Amino acid sequence: FMTLALASAALAGPVMDRIVKKGELVVGTATDYPPFNFKANDGTIMGLDVDLAKILAQAIKVKLKIEVIPFPKLLEALNAGKVDLVISGMTMTPERNTKAYFAGPYFVTGQGALMKGDMMQKIRDLTDFNKPEYTVAVNKGTTGETTVKQLLPKAKIVAYKDNEDALKALLAGKAQVMVADFPYCVLASFQYKADNLAALQKPFTFEPLGVAVPANDSLLQNMVDNYLGTLTAGGGLTELKARWFKQ
Ligand code: ARG
Repeated sequence: FMTLALASAALAGPVMDRIVKKGELVVGTATDYPPFNFKANDGTIMGLDVDLAKILAQAIKVKLKIEVIPFPKLLEALNAGKVDLVISGMTMTPERNTKAYFAGPYFVTGQGALMKGDMMQKIRDLTDFNKPEYTVAVNKGTTGETTVKQLLPKAKIVAYKDNEDALKALLAGKAQVMVADFPYCVLASFQYKADNLAALQKPFTFEPLGVAVPANDSLLQNMVDNYLGTLTAGGGLTELKARWFKQ
């Protein structure tokens, strides 16, 4: 009897068990990174990440609960069992992979830079900001933060709790450049045309975005792998992206 109980405790899918028993998939995401995750004016949480979560929950016939958590706290929440998955435009880095499994990528991009139009006249590429007189705004705990620490050691780097605060600092002139994922920068340059914002034309890093899955559940890992694999091969992912990225 004892050995049987131990055997069932060691099943490959403790998180999957919880999902099926509760009839609910809990997905953690931030809401500061359109068009991946954001809050519409009426409060609805939407974006490509949310669509991915919805389709997955439907496929396994459970309800979806979106748990909104600031980006720097997401992996912590995953490892504490507060969320079952993280889908939040998260780059699959080797360092993060020491703490979580990553399925994907479902999107490939890199870091971009956002600045006022007049700054754009003086700047040829990001490294032109590597001077003590420049302040760089980033979102704390992101690859944007690690990237600028590496590439711009001489500049002043200020890390904000989310993209929204970093963007506010840029708009207020407290920072001369904001570094964030390229799609975010491009979208903001359109949204804030009146504020004369502009984005560098190409990403300057290579970053695959993936779904973070708890390290202790190989069944759930396998499911998310297969879900993304099928969605990619069947053209569903391309369709989904076209919804959020018009070319
Ligand atoms: N891709 C970057 C990273 O993983 C930034 C992601 C920011 N995501 C968000 N939901 N704010 O570090």
